[in-house]
Amino acid sequence: MSTHTTTDAPLFEARDVHKSFGAVDVLRGMSVGVEPGHITAIVGDNGAGKSTFIKCLTGIYSPDAGSLAFRGKAVTVSSPDHARKLGIETVYQDLGLVDDLPVWHNLHLNRELTWGRGPFSVLRRKAMSRDAARMLEELDVRIPSPDIEIRALSGGQRQAVAISRAVSWGPSLVIMDEPTAALGVRETAAVEELIGRLRSRGTSVLLISHDMPQVLRLCDTVTVLRHGRTVSSRPVGQLSPDRLVALITGASTDKEMFA
Ligand SMILES: Nc1ncnc2c1ncn2[C@@H]1O[C@H](COP(=O)(O)OP(=O)(O)OP(=O)(O)O)[C@@H](O)[C@H]1O
Ligand SMILES: [Mg+2]
Repeated sequence: MSTHTTTDAPLFEARDVHKSFGAVDVLRGMSVGVEPGHITAIVGDNGAGKSTFIKCLTGIYSPDAGSLAFRGKAVTVSSPDHARKLGIETVYQDLGLVDDLPVWHNLHLNRELTWGRGPFSVLRRKAMSRDAARMLEELDVRIPSPDIEIRALSGGQRQAVAISRAVSWGPSLVIMDEPTAALGVRETAAVEELIGRLRSRGTSVLLISHDMPQVLRLCDTVTVLRHGRTVSSRPVGQLSPDRLVALITGASTDKEMFA
């Protein structure tokens, strides 16, 4: 838990976002606000629409209705590239790493350093390896060497590489879709520490997680999504695992709980 207050102006705000696929209404009024330097969680049952919502924020889907604002200005995020230009980076569950390339190359994917241009360009391996070592060190990520292939890394180390890559673009908001879902206890702790370090650098994080104790440990604010709708947004201090489960399942409404 951090000592941040919830009175800052939001860095990012989504309001009343709707998205349907054919006759299926997946998002039916999703809202969330992300404050600068805060960790905001989105929780909700399987199929509630969390990943779909993220894809609406990052330009993969265009919302049917609703509004997005970044630093107080209305935006239409037209593509993942556009999201990146705004300063929003996303770490998806599949991580998007290339298994048979070394860590340094994954950290420079699609922005390789080269000598020369076009078909005759040469990769600057040493420079990229050095850069990679620095990127990992900045976030205190421990990997035997940036020259090791991704396939040789543990799940937690892979997650850390994917997060380091996202952060190296200097985003103000990093979105993570279930970053610890596939990890063991120690690896989860390491990724949580890494997320905490992002916050200390002033980076905002929007975290999707099914792990209620983790959400309560790590986040400042929790937004609960149910059947495609935001049903609650509360500072973490007002919540408990039982309360979260009740809000997620609909056993209790926010109004009843905080009457
Ligand atoms: N492209 C699509 N076309 C039709 N239906 C879709 C599409 N994408 C998602 N859905 C449906 O939208 C609902 C929400 O899916 P989504 O993946 O956003 O849920 P989620 O909250 O991320 O779930 P989980 O916790 O299991 O990851 C599901 O019922 C899913 O089948
Ligand atoms: Mg999902």
